[in-house]
Amino acid sequence: MSLKIDILTVLPELLESPFNHSILKRAKEKNLLEIRVHHLRQWAVNEYGQVDDYQFGGGAGMVMMPEPLANAIETLSKNRPFDEIIYMTPDGERLNQRISNGLSLKGNLLIICGHYKGIDQRIREKYVTKEISIGDYVLSGGELAAAVLVDSIGRLIPGVLNDETSALFDSFQDNLLAPPVYTRPASWRGMEVPAILLSGDPKKIEDWRHEESLKRTEERRPDLLESE
Ligand code: 6GU
Repeated sequence: MSLKIDILTVLPELLESPFNHSILKRAKEKNLLEIRVHHLRQWAVNEYGQVDDYQFGGGAGMVMMPEPLANAIETLSKNRPFDEIIYMTPDGERLNQRISNGLSLKGNLLIICGHYKGIDQRIREKYVTKEISIGDYVLSGGELAAAVLVDSIGRLIPGVLNDETSALFDSFQDNLLAPPVYTRPASWRGMEVPAILLSGDPKKIEDWRHEESLKRTEERRPDLLESE
């Protein structure tokens, strides 16, 4: 199984580095993940590379025109039957682990990064199947949000993480935050690692971690214990 992700953007430079390190780099090397970044200007309406225009009704800020986006989407769709066409937008559904889990099991995704004031509403109605926000704050464009989405999805593709179970213990995977972690030295500047972690008793350690997860979640994110 592998996941192919196409990304449409007017700022491909912003997406050059995020997928070329660490876990996502390895996912690509193992052919479990393929990412293609496309410059929307290829589908510009004129020789000046125009892809945006003033908004009807007046007001500051440009809007991405429908024709370049439609041509891009239709061209890319010919090569790949997209399971989802995702538009990154602050008014989309707020991203969570459940959404990332679902998307990691798909075959082909297209992600559209908006810029300026966003994209013409008709593109959202005609092509977009999912609208995603990464939180309640405004970014200058969808690129960094797309990088966050792709990172969260990519690490979940079966076979990407060395120890296949390790994603299962991430924060949020079971609606719990992760427990505290420690490394050497066991005693550092007068601060000790909890003795249970040095006990060598796997069952005790598992129970302790679960308890700490619950405690942390109750203290910091009680909302997670009530949701879904
Ligand atoms: Cl997906 N895009 C933009 N521009 N801002 C955001 C966002 C997306 N998610 C949160 N803020």
